[in-house]
Amino acid sequence: MTRYSRITGTGSYLPPKRVTNAQLAAQLGERGIETSDDWIVERTGIRARHFAEPEVATSDLAVHAARNALEAAGRQASEIDLIIVATSTPDMVFPSSATILQNKLGVAGCPAFDLQAVCSGFVYALTVADSMIKSGAASKALVVGAEVFSRILDFTDRTTCVLFGDGAGAVVLEASDTPGILASDLHADGKHVEILCVPGTVFGGKVHGNPLLRMDGQAVFKLAVGVLEEAARATLAKAGKTEADIDWLIPHQANIRIMQGTAKKLKLPMDKLVVTVDEHGNTSAASIPLALDAAVRSGKVRKGDTLMLEGVGGGFTWGAVLLDF
Ligand code: ACO
Repeated sequence: MTRYSRITGTGSYLPPKRVTNAQLAAQLGERGIETSDDWIVERTGIRARHFAEPEVATSDLAVHAARNALEAAGRQASEIDLIIVATSTPDMVFPSSATILQNKLGVAGCPAFDLQAVCSGFVYALTVADSMIKSGAASKALVVGAEVFSRILDFTDRTTCVLFGDGAGAVVLEASDTPGILASDLHADGKHVEILCVPGTVFGGKVHGNPLLRMDGQAVFKLAVGVLEEAARATLAKAGKTEADIDWLIPHQANIRIMQGTAKKLKLPMDKLVVTVDEHGNTSAASIPLALDAAVRSGKVRKGDTLMLEGVGGGFTWGAVLLDF
């Protein structure tokens, strides 16, 4: 019998501190940096984001999301035999946030590792977990996207600091006789490193270079819409499906205009697009599982729906996963 993988539970968590555009604009204004709710909403669709308190780490957000996903799946943490955390803002350089999460969940023994593909991290992690389940290396995986992007934002740069937020999302992915994950398609092109990066490194115990996020927004925008369409089409072709089979498009939540542009290229009506960027901002690797969980809990996404998840981010990395929920 063919072995597939299937999502059996979703969960998410946002830190309680919600910062509206107006509040952020007022804070930036005190430092002489001008922005406005109107500008942010018109260019990005973002109205608010959540920021973690300084003492809260990625694994703290991840553990809440993971517990919610386990509860939804009806599983105990002790039943999980693989933990992957997609993040670019880990608690420490090492060990991985996945091992810290494992300990916070009160379990030990199963493999646990972080996966770093920036905003594509969750689709990469889901694809790796799917492959490990199909190969028999795992049977019940916890796949998490978790970030504290507020830590790497330059709050003197209005072109980037208004875009991002903190949060975590998680799924339990289990071996199944029926699919599940239908197909995926992952890519990277390292020649675009410069357009979106955090160019600092730790060397000799000190940070060298700039440890804050730098982005050429227009270059990212142009690349993102094209590669998201390509990845979606390649994934549909692998699964022998067409755009008409997609019930919900759940893209990385970076900018409403990128998301609407992608839906338009795929000829999908806007009411098939799951949008949480307005309330979450861009939470990088956490954005897709956060949006998925919001859509599941609000009753939009139902059992049996066909979902297209799509990510794109620094590297450049991009990819898509098509699945029956
Ligand atoms: N408030 C007010 N004005 C601003 C702000 C701000 N926060 N930021 C920039 N501006 C100004 C600029 O200085 C510029 O002023 P000028 O015309 O006097 O020079 C003007 O607004 C227009 O700037 P642009 O950069 O041309 O604005 P654009 O329409 O391209 O929007 C944005 C910028 C929102 C960053 C857009 O390029 C974008 O969304 N790019 C995609 C980037 C993205 O989503 N990255 C997320 C990470 S990667 C990923 O997840 C895919």
